[in-house]
Order: sequence, then structure tokens, then C-alpha cells
Amino acid sequence: MKIILVVGGAGYIGSHAVKMLLANGYQVVTLDNLSGGYRDAVVGGDFILGDISDPSCLKNLFNNYNFAGVMHFASFIQVGESIENPGKYYQNNVAGTLNLLDIMVAHQVKNFIFSSTAAIFGEPQYIPIDEQHAKQPINPYGLSKLMIEQILADYEHAYGLKSICLRYFNAAGADPEGQLGERHSPETHLIPLVLQVASGKREFISVFGQDYDTPDGTCIRDYIHINDLCQAHLLALEKLLAGANSNAYNLGNGEGFSVNHVIEIAKQVTGKIIPVKLAKRRVGDPARLVANSKQAQIELNWRPKYTDLVKIITHAWQWEIRY
Ligand code: UFG
Repeated sequence: MKIILVVGGAGYIGSHAVKMLLANGYQVVTLDNLSGGYRDAVVGGDFILGDISDPSCLKNLFNNYNFAGVMHFASFIQVGESIENPGKYYQNNVAGTLNLLDIMVAHQVKNFIFSSTAAIFGEPQYIPIDEQHAKQPINPYGLSKLMIEQILADYEHAYGLKSICLRYFNAAGADPEGQLGERHSPETHLIPLVLQVASGKREFISVFGQDYDTPDGTCIRDYIHINDLCQAHLLALEKLLAGANSNAYNLGNGEGFSVNHVIEIAKQVTGKIIPVKLAKRRVGDPARLVANSKQAQIELNWRPKYTDLVKIITHAWQWEIRY
């Protein structure tokens, strides 16, 4: 059985990936410092409480297991916070990841799947955004991810470490079986916040800006179901294990939905009243972010299953009322 290390496996995306790896016959070891994740979100495999900033922890881990590959989800993800406190982002997302890459090199673990982001592109120059789009991040979060993408190219050249970078657009939804879901603290993402209003945990949803250059004036995003996202990770891992070269793919549905549209669908799915308050634009929000994921579909043979926003919000709601 191949052993896969999932760094950040107790978080939102990592926990769904752990479940999928286990279901596909891999042995899984999760490393997580539980700063944003939950121990009970790790549904199987071994769990190690530890941090990528701690080289001795990584050393022990790599001495104890013979990993076939590593998936790395452990990063800070809040754009606004990254502008206020860039050191936190460069320390963890860049320096921490370098520790991880160095221990992989030392132990000749050659296969790395990296959680990258649409934020590496910055303000879109055209839509949908393909892999060739200019990469000019406008905040430290996006830059921290782009730096690792660039470092990975050098590590492949010098040490033969192979990687696939997956640039997520808006990860959303929850485990269709209802076992796992999104639990960020603080929550900043649109869909879980809207559903927290529907379930009575919040009074209203603030809509950040209604004067964008879009049909209804609110921002448009490309929401991709968490299981489809994890499926792409599995396919990318299998491709590397089979000997493929390094690559990078944009992952989204290729269809954009406005903030108002998301709220309307949430009303339909939940049958609840969702009070809305108009708020100022949030700094750094582009009007539209939509992915071109053709390359992933062709090269990874990736076939997203839950492309319908109703399905995505239904699964998120199933989790919201359970959790
Ligand atoms: N929004 C609101 N009200 C809220 C929360 C969000 O109107 O209370 C709006 C935002 O302004 C944005 C849209 O809903 O237009 C989606 O916002 P999210 O915060 O859910 O997601 P983002 O598109 O801002 O962020 C996502 C990822 C980030 C990544 C970014 C890439 O979650 O990690 O895409 O730019 F950096």
C-alpha cells in the first residue's frame, strides 16, 4: 500500500482529500498543527500533531514512514489578513513549505501535490483564466503561493522533485455523505456565511459591493465542489506516481455565479429567509474570477461531477444543519 502524507489534512480541503485517498486504497498519514483544522475531521489513517515550521518534527515523521507522495494543504488563506500581516504568510506558506520540500529531497520523496490558488493571477486580464494567464498577484497570500510554484520549478531542476500545482478557484460544498464540511474560524467565505444566516447563526449577509461591472453589480466567482477538487488531487497524484512530469492546472467549473445569485439559490435550497445588507466593496476583490480548466480535463482526465450550484449549496447546507 502506498503511503501518502497529507499536510493540513484536518482542514476543510485536506480532510476531504484524506477521506478520498483512504477510499481509493492509500495509506494516509495526516500532519496538522490544528491551528485551523479539527482532529475529528480526520476520518482515518494516522494523525501526527505537528508543524511544518519544526524541522525535528518533519525529520521524525520522514524517518518513521516511507512516503510515496505528499499533498500539501497547510496554509493561511485570508487575503485581507495577508495584507495586514504578511510575515505570518511568508513564514508559514513559504518558509514552512520550504522545510517540507527540503525533507522530501533529503528522503528522496519525489511526488508533491501543491494547493495553489487563483490569487496567483491577480486582476484578470481576460476570462476564463487559463494556465498561460499572466501571474501578477496583488496580495501577499497570492504571492506566497506563486513563490512556491516558482521554487518548485527550481527544485525539480536541481533535485528531481516532481510536482503538480492545483490552482483552486472557489472551493465550496461539502462531503456528499454529510460526514465532513467547511469549518473555518473565522469564516470569511460567502457560501458558509450565507448558510449560517439561513440556519439562524447570523442575522444577515453583507454583500460586498453592488457596483461592479457585472450584470447584477455583484462579484462573479467560479464555485467548485470540494469532492471534484479532491478528485483532481487524486488524479494528479496518480499521474505523478505513474511517472508524469511536473505541471500546473487551474481548477474551476468554468461558470461564474454572482453573489446575489448564490444568495438566491441558498434561499431556494434552504427555504429560509436570508436578510441581506449592502456593504462597501472588499479591498482586493476582482469583479470576475472564472477558470478555464480544459487542461485538467484533458491531461488529468478530470470530470467534475457536481457542477450544479444547487448541488454544491445543498451539500453545504446538509453540513451546516448537522454541524
Ligand atoms: N462576499 C460577500 N460577503 C461576504 C463574503 C464574501 O459579498 O460576507 C463576496 C466577496 O466579496 C466575493 C465573493 O463573495 O465577491 C466570494 O468571496 P469568498 O470570500 O467566498 O471567496 P474569494 O473569491 O474572495 O476567495 C477565494 C478563495 C481565496 C482565494 C481567492 C482568489 O477563498 O482563498 O478566491 O482570489 F485567495
